[in-house]
Amino acid sequence: MILGSMNLFVVAAIALLVGVAVTVAMVRYDLGPKGRLARGGQWLLATALGTGVLAFAIKLVLIVTIANLPEMMIAPLIEKAPIERPVSVRDPLAGLLASSRFRWQPVSMETVGSAKLPEEVSNPATYIWQTLPDQAPAPPDNPTTPAKVALGRMLFFDTNLSHDGTLSCSSCHDVDGGSGDDGSSTSVGIDGQKGGRNAPTVWNAAFQSRLFWDGRATSLEEQAKGPLVNPLEMGMPSLALVETRVRQNPGYREAFDGAFGEDQPITIDRIAEAIAAYERTLITTDSPYDRFVRGDLDALSPSQLRGMSLFQRVGCVQCHYGPNFSGASLFDARTPFRIFPVYPTPYEIRYRLTEDSGASSAGSGRGSWRVPSLRNVALTGPWLHNGSVTDLTEVVRIMSSVQLGYTGHYLVWSDSHKVMTDLKGPLLDDESVKDIVAFLHALSSDELVKRIARKEETSYPENDPMTAGLNQ
Ligand code: HEC
Ligand code: HEC
Repeated sequence: MILGSMNLFVVAAIALLVGVAVTVAMVRYDLGPKGRLARGGQWLLATALGTGVLAFAIKLVLIVTIANLPEMMIAPLIEKAPIERPVSVRDPLAGLLASSRFRWQPVSMETVGSAKLPEEVSNPATYIWQTLPDQAPAPPDNPTTPAKVALGRMLFFDTNLSHDGTLSCSSCHDVDGGSGDDGSSTSVGIDGQKGGRNAPTVWNAAFQSRLFWDGRATSLEEQAKGPLVNPLEMGMPSLALVETRVRQNPGYREAFDGAFGEDQPITIDRIAEAIAAYERTLITTDSPYDRFVRGDLDALSPSQLRGMSLFQRVGCVQCHYGPNFSGASLFDARTPFRIFPVYPTPYEIRYRLTEDSGASSAGSGRGSWRVPSLRNVALTGPWLHNGSVTDLTEVVRIMSSVQLGYTGHYLVWSDSHKVMTDLKGPLLDDESVKDIVAFLHALSSDELVKRIARKEETSYPENDPMTAGLNQ
């Protein structure tokens, strides 16, 4: 309701005058004579009824005034401090495995786009900040064992698994160097071919129920076979040839015996199982955020704390929720897919956000995408599925406007409908964006930050003839 305050006072004053006049007339000509009240009694009754009319007019003014105040002015009055007691969840898996909320069945594609939010996420009062468990759950038919992990690691680093022997999984997912991705906007496969999508980090991928940007794989076992035969990645002509390559390498026989038992055949399924088992050990639980949730109240800076609160209040948690900051995690996979971008903004054109529409077949551009985890996100730029954004601050601005409608004031031209739309909405101010970015940095593992710093220290300047080739 929008009523100018001047108009409101005029209306309230007129209502008050009419109300008082009616009351006085009623007492003078009707109630007074009927109740045989003397003049004094009539005055008393008129005053009592008149006070009621006055109170009603004041209430009316108050209600309309409050309804028109900007939200930010009222919220602090009625909201509790957003973070009071951090909740420590040391071993959520124990409870999760026993509860019916945890299922191995892949989530059906029907959930695409239908964003029914879990109650505890949509209600900030019940939102729980959680840390990751130290171990990733493994499917019953591929338990994680040390021997399998060791074999998986060998395979992960083996360039012989690519067609021309130049690339391993680790070429695009640099685990030892830190980030678990390749730092490029889109990955470069064999023969220098550029792919269309950014490489996500493999750190904590073990906690995702859906893998790849479009969520097309439902397990790490299934995922691992993809890049081997993707012509733009490792380019092997067939999975059978991958088996042959591994069988031909005598170094693998012993490792396979240890992992799967004596003389078991080397098959592509076992290769994928071993890689998946290794990936299930790529977990980070040592970020400042995790330390904070475990009870170290000094782990986050004031800006990061404000960012954490904003992250919830502006609605990032609607999609990036739970211990892995993703609606597509194994902890709660009820909303793994979300439309992106939701609102039309100029960002869409600037960063070609609709050129690839993920899992949607409609080709509308407003595709549906798996909600990515935000753990270590500050270390894995460039960002978004096409790696088009190189500044995390810009990503937060994009997210808050295209996903949440914090748009400011934009004129957007729709070519297909031949209309100019005037989009208005509350704008997230620069300070808030900065605080959210600071909070995203708090999701970076201490160990990975150290590894990246070490790598930068020991790498030699590019294009320096004295040190050429030493980086490899
Ligand atoms: C040429 C670079 C390249 C190589 C080599 C490569 N990947 Fe990837 N990886 C990518 C890209 C790009 C994506 C995203 C593709 C998409 O979403 O369509 C990806 C996605 C993934 C994901 C999904 C992560 C997530 O959060 O969804 C995992 C896990 C993964 N790769 C593991 C591997 C393994 C295991 C290997 C080796 C067998 C490997 N990758 C080889 C580039 C590469
Ligand atoms: C409606 C769901 C939704 C909301 C709300 C949302 N996001 Fe996202 N977010 C996504 C999806 C989907 C993607 C993947 C986009 C793509 O395909 O490029 C994403 C990607 C991201 C990325 C890039 C990840 C990467 O590895 O490149 C960041 C950072 C991010 N979101 C932060 C935020 C922040 C901060 C907020 C709150 C201001 C927020 N998101 C709100 C769904 C959402």
